[in-house]
Amino acid sequence: MALSARALDLDAAASFLWDLLRQRPVQAVLASCAGLIGLTVLTAGWLTQTDRLSRGYAPVQPIPFSHRDHAGAMAMSCLYCHSGAARSRAAGIPGEAVCMGCHSVTKTESPSIKTLKEAFDSATPIPWKAVHSLPGHVFFDHRPHVNAGVACQTCHGPVQEMTVVSQRMSMRMSHCLGCHRDPKSALPQGSAIAKAPENCNACHR
Ligand code: HEC
Ligand code: HEC
Ligand code: HEC
Ligand code: HEC
Ligand code: HEC
Repeated sequence: MALSARALDLDAAASFLWDLLRQRPVQAVLASCAGLIGLTVLTAGWLTQTDRLSRGYAPVQPIPFSHRDHAGAMAMSCLYCHSGAARSRAAGIPGEAVCMGCHSVTKTESPSIKTLKEAFDSATPIPWKAVHSLPGHVFFDHRPHVNAGVACQTCHGPVQEMTVVSQRMSMRMSHCLGCHRDPKSALPQGSAIAKAPENCNACHR
């Protein structure tokens, strides 16, 4: 008795649902829900691609150091502060001593220059946040690029116009290989280099 009553309830519920599903407005709502879910999945997928995430990455730095002022308006050479780029794997971030060459007398009343001086006096480096970083399994070296005459801006974009550095290049293997296969447009005219290495262990050692 109890069993058949429940079966009846289920039947009634099923036919109620069926009637509901056959109504146009309900179908429209369901269709747009499905559409919305699909769109969310696609958007999330697109936005979480490693490339999309890392390109444009521009962390706020502990001191508002501006490349536009120093490398743009004052036209300081990139290598004055990043001398490592021509002679070691890493370009390097300059130590406070390089800054104090000017800032022991320039803008000394500015709060950020006071922070800079404290860092210098106490020998506690400013904790600059890294903008670019390749996965650990990739080997990159600035030297062959800089010494072949590839401009910093070819990879890093117009840094001399940036108040806050942001990552402009793709850090994808396909981007590295694209240039390695055909580096001509990135090299100075008359360069003897026709190709850069494409063998796996050039970049995975
Ligand atoms: C006065 C010194 C100075 C000069 C000149 C300078 N930089 Fe920098 N650079 C810094 C400092 C300090 C940082 C770290 C803070 C920041 O990211 O803004 C930095 C950060 C960077 C970064 C981001 C590093 C990372 O974490 O990935 C790039 C790329 C860069 N510089 C490229 C350049 C290029 C290209 C030029 C020339 C157009 C240049 N810099 C000139 C001092 C300098
Ligand atoms: C060749 C001299 C020189 C060097 C080297 C130099 N600066 Fe400067 N910096 C200046 C001058 C000049 C200004 C003022 C620019 C302006 O106001 O237009 C300035 C402005 C600044 C300001 C803005 C200060 C404010 O409150 O307006 C910061 C922050 C700064 N520098 C940080 C640094 C750091 C960090 C380094 C080292 C990585 C550095 N500077 C190296 C000359 C220099
Ligand atoms: C062929 C492309 C390319 C060129 C040219 C290039 N860079 Fe880089 N740079 C990179 C890549 C890739 C990284 C990230 C390296 C890593 O994460 O190991 C990087 C990282 C950096 C960093 C932060 C890490 C470090 O090495 O200290 C600075 C600063 C920098 N570059 C400055 C420069 C300057 C200045 C020049 C020109 C003199 C230059 N780069 C030329 C691709 C390039
Ligand atoms: C804009 C062009 C360009 C881009 C982008 C570029 N490279 Fe290169 N790469 C070169 C050139 C040019 C050389 C030098 C070839 C030579 O000297 O014969 C080189 C040389 C190298 C070398 C030295 C290989 C050897 O055995 O001598 C390594 C390692 C390397 N690149 C890694 C990378 C990685 C990793 C990336 C991506 C993050 C990258 N490169 C992006 C142009 C580029
Ligand atoms: C010019 C430099 C370069 C060369 C040459 C190169 N790679 Fe890569 N590779 C990279 C970079 C940069 C990454 C990290 C970014 C990425 O995953 O796209 C990478 C990532 C990878 C990954 C990890 C992919 C992932 O999704 O995590 C594999 C696997 C790989 N490479 C295999 C190879 C093989 C096999 C070769 C030889 C046919 C090769 N690579 C040659 C630069 C290079």
